[in-house]
Amino acid sequence: MTALLLGLVVAAAATPAPTLRDLAKRHGMTISTCVATSALEGKEYQAVLAREFSALEPENELKFEPVQPERNRYDFVAIDKQVAFAKKHKMAVRGHTLVWHHQNPAWARDPKMTATELRAVLKDHIFKVMGRFRGVIGTWDVVNEAISDDAHMRHSLWFDRPGIGLDGEQTIEQAFKWAHEADPKAKLFYNDYNIETLNAKSDAVYALLSKLKQRGVPIDGFGMQCHLDPQFDKDEAFDSFRENIRRFKKLGLAVQLTELDVRIPDGSPAQLAVQARIYGRIFQIAREEGIKWVQLWGFTDAHSWIPQAFKGMGWALPWDDKYQPKPALEAIRKALE
Ligand code: G3I
Repeated sequence: MTALLLGLVVAAAATPAPTLRDLAKRHGMTISTCVATSALEGKEYQAVLAREFSALEPENELKFEPVQPERNRYDFVAIDKQVAFAKKHKMAVRGHTLVWHHQNPAWARDPKMTATELRAVLKDHIFKVMGRFRGVIGTWDVVNEAISDDAHMRHSLWFDRPGIGLDGEQTIEQAFKWAHEADPKAKLFYNDYNIETLNAKSDAVYALLSKLKQRGVPIDGFGMQCHLDPQFDKDEAFDSFRENIRRFKKLGLAVQLTELDVRIPDGSPAQLAVQARIYGRIFQIAREEGIKWVQLWGFTDAHSWIPQAFKGMGWALPWDDKYQPKPALEAIRKALE
Protein backbone atom coordinates (compact mmCIF):
# COMPACT_ATOMS: atom_id res chain seq x y z
CA MET A 1 0.00 0.00 0.00
CA THR A 2 1.61 3.36 -1.04
CA ALA A 3 2.56 5.82 1.67
CA LEU A 4 -0.11 8.25 0.37
CA LEU A 5 -2.86 5.63 0.48
CA LEU A 6 -1.69 4.51 3.92
CA GLY A 7 -1.75 8.11 5.05
CA LEU A 8 -5.32 8.52 3.79
CA VAL A 9 -6.43 5.32 5.51
CA VAL A 10 -4.85 6.40 8.79
CA ALA A 11 -6.38 9.87 8.48
CA ALA A 12 -9.80 8.39 7.73
CA ALA A 13 -9.54 6.03 10.69
CA ALA A 14 -8.55 8.95 12.91
CA THR A 15 -11.46 11.15 11.72
CA PRO A 16 -14.30 10.76 14.18
CA ALA A 17 -17.72 9.90 12.75
CA PRO A 18 -19.85 13.05 12.29
CA THR A 19 -22.02 13.69 15.34
CA LEU A 20 -25.82 13.76 15.15
CA ARG A 21 -25.51 17.47 15.89
CA ASP A 22 -23.27 18.00 12.79
CA LEU A 23 -25.45 15.83 10.54
CA ALA A 24 -28.73 17.43 11.64
CA LYS A 25 -27.29 20.92 11.17
CA ARG A 26 -26.72 20.14 7.46
CA HIS A 27 -30.54 19.97 7.14
CA GLY A 28 -31.27 22.96 9.37
CA MET A 29 -32.51 20.48 11.94
CA THR A 30 -32.14 20.68 15.72
CA ILE A 31 -31.50 17.28 17.30
CA SER A 32 -32.63 17.32 20.93
CA THR A 33 -33.27 14.96 23.83
CA CYS A 34 -35.04 15.08 27.13
CA VAL A 35 -32.71 15.25 30.14
CA ALA A 36 -33.12 14.20 33.76
CA THR A 37 -31.06 16.48 36.00
CA SER A 38 -30.27 13.47 38.22
CA ALA A 39 -28.58 11.79 35.22
CA LEU A 40 -26.67 14.94 34.33
CA GLU A 41 -24.13 14.23 37.09
CA GLY A 42 -22.72 11.31 35.05
CA LYS A 43 -19.56 12.04 33.01
CA GLU A 44 -20.46 9.67 30.16
CA TYR A 45 -24.00 11.10 30.08
CA GLN A 46 -22.61 14.63 29.88
CA ALA A 47 -20.12 13.68 27.15
CA VAL A 48 -22.66 12.12 24.78
CA LEU A 49 -25.25 14.83 25.47
CA ALA A 50 -22.86 17.71 24.74
CA ARG A 51 -21.28 16.03 21.69
CA GLU A 52 -24.35 14.70 19.92
CA PHE A 53 -27.23 17.10 20.70
CA SER A 54 -27.90 20.74 19.82
CA ALA A 55 -30.76 21.12 22.31
CA LEU A 56 -32.27 19.63 25.45
CA GLU A 57 -35.64 19.54 27.20
CA PRO A 58 -36.22 18.77 30.90
CA GLU A 59 -37.92 15.38 31.25
CA ASN A 60 -39.73 16.44 34.44
CA GLU A 61 -38.05 19.49 35.96
CA LEU A 62 -40.36 22.10 34.40
CA LYS A 63 -43.66 20.33 35.06
CA PHE A 64 -46.17 22.03 37.37
CA GLU A 65 -45.53 19.98 40.53
CA PRO A 66 -41.69 20.05 40.50
CA VAL A 67 -41.64 23.78 39.69
CA GLN A 68 -44.39 24.98 42.06
CA PRO A 69 -44.55 22.30 44.79
CA GLU A 70 -46.32 24.72 47.13
CA ARG A 71 -48.53 27.62 46.13
CA ASN A 72 -46.34 30.62 45.19
CA ARG A 73 -43.15 28.73 46.08
CA TYR A 74 -41.22 28.04 42.87
CA ASP A 75 -38.24 25.70 42.65
CA PHE A 76 -35.97 26.23 39.64
CA VAL A 77 -32.84 24.56 41.06
CA ALA A 78 -33.05 21.42 38.93
CA ILE A 79 -33.98 23.18 35.69
CA ASP A 80 -31.30 25.84 36.21
CA LYS A 81 -28.66 23.07 36.17
CA GLN A 82 -29.89 21.97 32.77
CA VAL A 83 -30.00 25.55 31.47
CA ALA A 84 -26.41 26.07 32.66
CA PHE A 85 -25.28 22.89 30.90
CA ALA A 86 -27.07 23.93 27.71
CA LYS A 87 -25.48 27.38 27.80
CA LYS A 88 -22.00 25.91 28.32
CA HIS A 89 -22.42 23.61 25.32
CA LYS A 90 -24.27 26.06 23.09
CA MET A 91 -27.49 24.03 23.16
CA ALA A 92 -31.04 25.37 22.89
CA VAL A 93 -33.59 24.60 25.62
CA ARG A 94 -37.19 23.54 24.99
CA GLY A 95 -39.84 23.99 27.68
CA HIS A 96 -42.15 21.17 28.81
CA THR A 97 -44.95 21.61 29.97
CA LEU A 98 -47.36 24.21 31.36
CA VAL A 99 -50.87 22.68 31.15
CA TRP A 100 -51.14 18.92 31.62
CA HIS A 101 -53.43 16.48 33.46
CA HIS A 102 -50.41 14.77 35.14
CA GLN A 103 -47.98 15.93 37.82
CA ASN A 104 -50.08 18.72 39.27
CA PRO A 105 -49.32 19.45 42.95
CA ALA A 106 -51.64 18.28 45.74
CA TRP A 107 -52.40 21.88 46.79
CA ALA A 108 -53.82 22.63 43.31
CA ARG A 109 -55.81 19.38 43.27
CA ASP A 110 -57.39 20.20 46.66
CA PRO A 111 -61.18 19.78 46.17
CA LYS A 112 -61.65 23.10 47.99
CA MET A 113 -59.99 24.96 45.08
CA THR A 114 -62.58 26.90 43.06
CA ALA A 115 -62.46 27.50 39.28
CA THR A 116 -61.85 31.19 39.96
CA GLU A 117 -58.84 30.36 42.16
CA LEU A 118 -57.49 27.82 39.65
CA ARG A 119 -57.78 30.39 36.86
CA ALA A 120 -55.55 32.76 38.84
CA VAL A 121 -53.17 29.88 39.71
CA LEU A 122 -52.76 28.82 36.09
CA LYS A 123 -52.28 32.38 34.82
CA ASP A 124 -49.71 33.14 37.55
CA HIS A 125 -47.86 29.87 36.82
CA ILE A 126 -47.60 30.54 33.09
CA PHE A 127 -46.45 34.14 33.56
CA LYS A 128 -43.99 33.31 36.34
CA VAL A 129 -42.36 30.30 34.65
CA MET A 130 -42.26 31.62 31.08
CA GLY A 131 -41.28 35.09 32.28
CA ARG A 132 -38.26 33.68 34.10
CA PHE A 133 -36.96 31.92 30.99
CA ARG A 134 -37.73 34.65 28.45
CA GLY A 135 -34.86 34.64 25.94
CA VAL A 136 -33.59 31.31 27.33
CA ILE A 137 -36.36 28.87 26.40
CA GLY A 138 -37.47 29.60 22.85
CA THR A 139 -40.11 26.88 22.42
CA TRP A 140 -42.76 25.63 24.85
CA ASP A 141 -45.21 22.76 25.06
CA VAL A 142 -47.95 25.05 26.38
CA VAL A 143 -50.65 22.35 26.42
CA ASN A 144 -49.84 18.64 26.58
CA GLU A 145 -52.18 15.70 25.79
CA ALA A 146 -55.55 17.49 25.98
CA ILE A 147 -57.26 14.89 23.74
CA SER A 148 -58.01 11.54 25.39
CA ASP A 149 -57.38 8.17 23.75
CA ASP A 150 -61.06 7.99 22.73
CA ALA A 151 -60.53 11.20 20.71
CA HIS A 152 -62.53 13.53 23.00
CA MET A 153 -61.46 16.48 25.15
CA ARG A 154 -59.79 14.96 28.20
CA HIS A 155 -61.29 15.45 31.67
CA SER A 156 -58.73 17.30 33.76
CA LEU A 157 -58.06 19.64 36.65
CA TRP A 158 -57.64 22.55 34.27
CA PHE A 159 -60.53 21.75 31.91
CA ASP A 160 -63.52 20.56 33.93
CA ARG A 161 -62.55 19.06 37.27
CA PRO A 162 -63.20 21.84 38.25
CA GLY A 163 -61.45 23.71 35.45
CA ILE A 164 -60.86 27.46 35.34
CA GLY A 165 -64.40 28.60 34.50
CA LEU A 166 -64.08 27.86 30.77
CA ASP A 167 -64.64 24.68 28.78
CA GLY A 168 -61.64 22.59 27.67
CA GLU A 169 -61.21 24.24 24.29
CA GLN A 170 -61.57 27.76 25.73
CA THR A 171 -59.03 26.86 28.43
CA ILE A 172 -56.56 25.79 25.77
CA GLU A 173 -57.17 29.04 23.89
CA GLN A 174 -56.71 31.06 27.09
CA ALA A 175 -53.49 29.21 27.98
CA PHE A 176 -51.94 29.99 24.61
CA LYS A 177 -52.98 33.66 24.89
CA TRP A 178 -51.42 33.92 28.36
CA ALA A 179 -48.29 32.17 27.09
CA HIS A 180 -47.98 34.60 24.20
CA GLU A 181 -48.37 37.55 26.58
CA ALA A 182 -45.81 36.05 28.96
CA ASP A 183 -43.21 35.65 26.18
CA PRO A 184 -44.21 37.12 22.80
CA LYS A 185 -41.06 35.74 21.17
CA ALA A 186 -41.51 32.10 22.26
CA LYS A 187 -42.79 29.46 19.84
CA LEU A 188 -45.91 27.90 21.36
CA PHE A 189 -46.76 24.23 20.77
CA TYR A 190 -49.55 21.77 21.41
CA ASN A 191 -48.04 18.31 22.15
CA ASP A 192 -49.63 14.84 22.09
CA TYR A 193 -49.07 11.07 21.64
CA ASN A 194 -50.60 8.27 19.52
CA ILE A 195 -51.38 10.95 16.94
CA GLU A 196 -48.43 10.23 14.62
CA THR A 197 -50.56 8.59 11.90
CA LEU A 198 -53.99 9.38 10.44
CA ASN A 199 -56.44 8.11 13.07
CA ALA A 200 -59.45 9.22 15.13
CA LYS A 201 -57.26 10.85 17.78
CA SER A 202 -55.07 12.74 15.31
CA ASP A 203 -58.27 13.80 13.50
CA ALA A 204 -59.56 15.25 16.80
CA VAL A 205 -56.28 17.10 17.35
CA TYR A 206 -56.39 18.32 13.74
CA ALA A 207 -59.94 19.65 14.25
CA LEU A 208 -58.92 21.35 17.51
CA LEU A 209 -55.80 23.03 16.11
CA SER A 210 -57.64 24.09 12.92
CA LYS A 211 -60.24 25.86 15.05
CA LEU A 212 -57.60 27.55 17.20
CA LYS A 213 -55.72 28.73 14.12
CA GLN A 214 -58.93 30.01 12.51
CA ARG A 215 -59.67 31.99 15.68
CA GLY A 216 -56.21 33.57 15.53
CA VAL A 217 -55.03 31.84 18.70
CA PRO A 218 -51.20 32.31 19.01
CA ILE A 219 -50.19 28.70 18.42
CA ASP A 220 -47.08 28.04 16.33
CA GLY A 221 -46.69 24.30 16.22
CA PHE A 222 -47.70 20.74 16.87
CA GLY A 223 -45.47 18.28 18.75
CA MET A 224 -45.83 14.63 17.75
CA GLN A 225 -44.38 12.68 20.66
CA CYS A 226 -43.54 9.51 18.67
CA HIS A 227 -43.41 6.89 21.45
CA LEU A 228 -43.22 3.96 19.00
CA ASP A 229 -42.94 0.16 19.06
CA PRO A 230 -42.33 -2.54 16.38
CA GLN A 231 -45.95 -2.19 15.18
CA PHE A 232 -44.81 0.95 13.40
CA ASP A 233 -42.51 -1.02 11.10
CA LYS A 234 -44.98 -1.08 8.19
CA ASP A 235 -45.05 0.94 4.95
CA GLU A 236 -48.64 2.01 5.61
CA ALA A 237 -47.65 3.43 9.01
CA PHE A 238 -44.81 5.45 7.54
CA ASP A 239 -46.97 6.67 4.63
CA SER A 240 -49.73 7.69 7.07
CA PHE A 241 -47.14 9.46 9.23
CA ARG A 242 -45.97 11.46 6.23
CA GLU A 243 -49.52 12.41 5.21
CA ASN A 244 -50.30 13.41 8.78
CA ILE A 245 -47.25 15.69 8.96
CA ARG A 246 -48.29 17.32 5.69
CA ARG A 247 -51.85 18.09 6.77
CA PHE A 248 -50.70 19.78 10.01
CA LYS A 249 -48.10 21.80 8.12
CA LYS A 250 -50.87 22.93 5.74
CA LEU A 251 -52.55 24.53 8.78
CA GLY A 252 -49.52 26.81 9.02
CA LEU A 253 -48.12 24.90 12.00
CA ALA A 254 -44.52 23.85 12.47
CA VAL A 255 -44.38 20.11 13.17
CA GLN A 256 -41.78 18.80 15.61
CA LEU A 257 -41.07 15.26 16.77
CA THR A 258 -40.81 15.74 20.52
CA GLU A 259 -40.42 12.44 22.46
CA LEU A 260 -39.10 9.85 20.01
CA ASP A 261 -38.26 6.44 21.37
CA VAL A 262 -38.79 2.93 19.93
CA ARG A 263 -39.44 0.32 22.59
CA ILE A 264 -38.71 -3.35 21.81
CA PRO A 265 -39.37 -6.59 23.76
CA ASP A 266 -35.71 -7.62 24.00
CA GLY A 267 -32.22 -6.53 22.96
CA SER A 268 -31.78 -9.32 20.37
CA PRO A 269 -30.13 -8.51 16.99
CA ALA A 270 -33.49 -9.10 15.28
CA GLN A 271 -35.31 -6.56 17.48
CA LEU A 272 -32.42 -4.09 17.28
CA ALA A 273 -32.68 -4.34 13.48
CA VAL A 274 -36.42 -3.56 13.55
CA GLN A 275 -35.75 -0.64 15.89
CA ALA A 276 -32.99 0.68 13.63
CA ARG A 277 -35.29 0.52 10.60
CA ILE A 278 -37.95 2.53 12.42
CA TYR A 279 -35.51 5.17 13.66
CA GLY A 280 -33.96 5.43 10.19
CA ARG A 281 -37.26 5.88 8.38
CA ILE A 282 -38.59 8.37 10.93
CA PHE A 283 -35.51 10.54 10.50
CA GLN A 284 -35.62 10.13 6.71
CA ILE A 285 -39.26 11.30 6.61
CA ALA A 286 -38.48 14.13 9.04
CA ARG A 287 -35.67 15.30 6.75
CA GLU A 288 -37.77 14.95 3.58
CA GLU A 289 -40.78 16.75 5.14
CA GLY A 290 -38.66 19.65 6.39
CA ILE A 291 -39.12 18.94 10.11
CA LYS A 292 -36.64 21.21 11.90
CA TRP A 293 -36.75 19.75 15.44
CA VAL A 294 -36.42 16.06 16.26
CA GLN A 295 -36.20 15.25 19.96
CA LEU A 296 -35.55 11.87 21.56
CA TRP A 297 -37.07 10.97 24.89
CA GLY A 298 -33.67 10.21 26.33
CA PHE A 299 -30.67 8.86 24.44
CA THR A 300 -29.29 5.97 26.55
CA ASP A 301 -31.11 2.85 27.75
CA ALA A 302 -29.57 3.65 31.12
CA HIS A 303 -32.16 6.45 31.53
CA SER A 304 -35.50 5.66 29.89
CA TRP A 305 -39.06 5.82 31.20
CA ILE A 306 -40.04 2.76 29.12
CA PRO A 307 -39.15 -0.22 31.39
CA GLN A 308 -41.29 1.01 34.26
CA ALA A 309 -44.10 2.23 32.00
CA PHE A 310 -44.27 -0.79 29.64
CA LYS A 311 -43.54 -4.01 31.52
CA GLY A 312 -41.25 -6.28 29.47
CA MET A 313 -40.37 -3.56 27.00
CA GLY A 314 -37.21 -1.42 26.89
CA TRP A 315 -33.95 -0.98 24.89
CA ALA A 316 -35.73 2.04 23.36
CA LEU A 317 -32.87 4.45 22.64
CA PRO A 318 -29.89 4.77 20.24
CA TRP A 319 -27.19 4.22 22.90
CA ASP A 320 -27.29 1.18 25.20
CA ASP A 321 -27.06 1.28 28.98
CA LYS A 322 -23.24 1.33 28.74
CA TYR A 323 -23.40 4.33 26.35
CA GLN A 324 -22.38 2.14 23.39
CA PRO A 325 -23.92 2.94 19.98
CA LYS A 326 -26.68 0.59 18.78
CA PRO A 327 -27.74 -0.11 15.18
CA ALA A 328 -30.40 2.59 15.62
CA LEU A 329 -27.68 5.25 15.87
CA GLU A 330 -26.11 4.12 12.60
CA ALA A 331 -29.54 4.17 10.94
CA ILE A 332 -30.16 7.74 12.13
CA ARG A 333 -26.74 8.83 10.87
CA LYS A 334 -27.44 7.24 7.45
CA ALA A 335 -30.81 9.00 7.24
CA LEU A 336 -29.12 12.35 7.92
CA GLU A 337 -26.12 11.92 5.61
O1 G3I B 1 -39.35 13.32 41.82
C1 G3I B 1 -40.14 12.33 42.49
C2 G3I B 1 -39.36 11.79 43.69
O2 G3I B 1 -39.20 12.82 44.65
C3 G3I B 1 -40.14 10.62 44.29
O3 G3I B 1 -39.37 10.06 45.35
C4 G3I B 1 -40.39 9.57 43.21
C5 G3I B 1 -41.15 8.37 43.72
O4 G3I B 1 -42.50 8.72 43.87
O5 G3I B 1 -41.17 10.17 42.14
C6 G3I B 1 -40.43 11.20 41.51
O6 G3I B 1 -41.23 11.76 40.50
C7 G3I B 1 -41.33 10.89 39.36
C8 G3I B 1 -40.82 11.69 38.14
O7 G3I B 1 -41.01 10.94 36.94
C9 G3I B 1 -39.34 12.03 38.27
O8 G3I B 1 -38.59 10.86 38.30
C10 G3I B 1 -42.81 10.59 39.16
O9 G3I B 1 -43.23 9.74 40.22
C11 G3I B 1 -42.98 9.85 37.84
O10 G3I B 1 -44.38 9.69 37.57
C12 G3I B 1 -42.42 10.72 36.71
O11 G3I B 1 -42.56 9.99 35.49
C13 G3I B 1 -42.43 10.84 34.34
C14 G3I B 1 -43.79 10.86 33.60
O12 G3I B 1 -43.66 11.64 32.41
C15 G3I B 1 -44.87 11.49 34.45
O13 G3I B 1 -44.57 12.84 34.63
C16 G3I B 1 -41.38 10.22 33.42
O14 G3I B 1 -40.10 10.31 34.04
C17 G3I B 1 -41.34 10.97 32.10
O15 G3I B 1 -40.49 10.31 31.16
C18 G3I B 1 -42.75 11.03 31.48
O16 G3I B 1 -42.68 11.81 30.35
C19 G3I B 1 -43.95 12.03 29.69
C20 G3I B 1 -43.93 13.42 29.10
O17 G3I B 1 -43.72 14.36 30.12
C21 G3I B 1 -45.22 13.69 28.34
N1 G3I B 1 -45.44 12.68 27.30
C22 G3I B 1 -45.45 11.31 27.82
C23 G3I B 1 -44.14 11.02 28.54
C24 G3I B 1 -44.14 9.60 29.05
O18 G3I B 1 -45.13 9.44 30.02
